[in-house]
Amino acid sequence: MARPLVTVHVAQSLDGRIGIEGRATPLSTAEGRAYAHAMRASHDAVLVGASTVRIDDPRLTVRDGSEAEARSPLRVVLASSLDLPRGARVFGGDGRSIVIGAEGRVRAEERAALEAAGVAVIVGPRSEDGRVAVEGALTILAERGVRRLLVEGGSKVLTSFLRAKCVDSLSVEIATRLLGSPGTGMLGAIGVGAIGEAPSLTGVTVERLGENVIVRGDVVYA
Ligand SMILES: NC(=O)c1ccc[n+]([C@@H]2O[C@H](COP(=O)([O-])OP(=O)(O)OC[C@H]3O[C@@H](n4cnc5c(N)ncnc54)[C@H](OP(=O)(O)O)[C@@H]3O)[C@@H](O)[C@H]2O)c1
Repeated sequence: MARPLVTVHVAQSLDGRIGIEGRATPLSTAEGRAYAHAMRASHDAVLVGASTVRIDDPRLTVRDGSEAEARSPLRVVLASSLDLPRGARVFGGDGRSIVIGAEGRVRAEERAALEAAGVAVIVGPRSEDGRVAVEGALTILAERGVRRLLVEGGSKVLTSFLRAKCVDSLSVEIATRLLGSPGTGMLGAIGVGAIGEAPSLTGVTVERLGENVIVRGDVVYA
């Protein structure tokens, strides 16, 4: 079965940071938020990492006042041991949330609590670093009918998806702000040792979103 098409959407500062360490850091303009909600509405599922849930506590729903609100995408969290705040907003109470844990790391108590709250828990293959393997998570989602997946972060999840060469298109909202240190960079090591090894974008478009700009394109791997 083909893996879902994967789009990454993220907001960053001019100096390439997606947040102040440990804090929710809204970087999007009103236009940027509307754009992000439209992106969610055009995907089958939206995925984030466990730390984004712990720090930002996002809902990951479509909230743009359109008909699409009624068919918000599945909400997916990668959390190897399932250690997540029990009242996290991503769980929503509507049975549309999935948490994917890693084989051998899932804690039975957390699993029971999530399932009692109506959250689907799936255990996927573990990668070498002990986290949920990206390819395994994509297979699980494909089996559940996900054809288009939106990945919203954070940095560790974006890094894993790019290292696995599993990002098809990228959309980066760039805020006209500088965050400096301590800030979370958009990416960790993705195995680029020379410019010739750097993934790039093709079919690039650039648009204004109020004070911010958005750069979009399809990812080409070297
Ligand atoms: N500006 C934006 O658009 C934007 C969007 C989202 C987040 N953020 C910011 O990003 C920051 C969080 O990013 P982060 O890098 O610290 O964490 P993250 O990517 O949100 O989550 C990382 C955690 O997810 C779990 N995980 C499971 N499988 C994984 C895999 N294959 N690859 C990576 N992680 C996996 C791991 O926790 P376990 O060990 O528990 O499994 C890992 O520590 C926050 O400050 C947030 O505000 C910004």
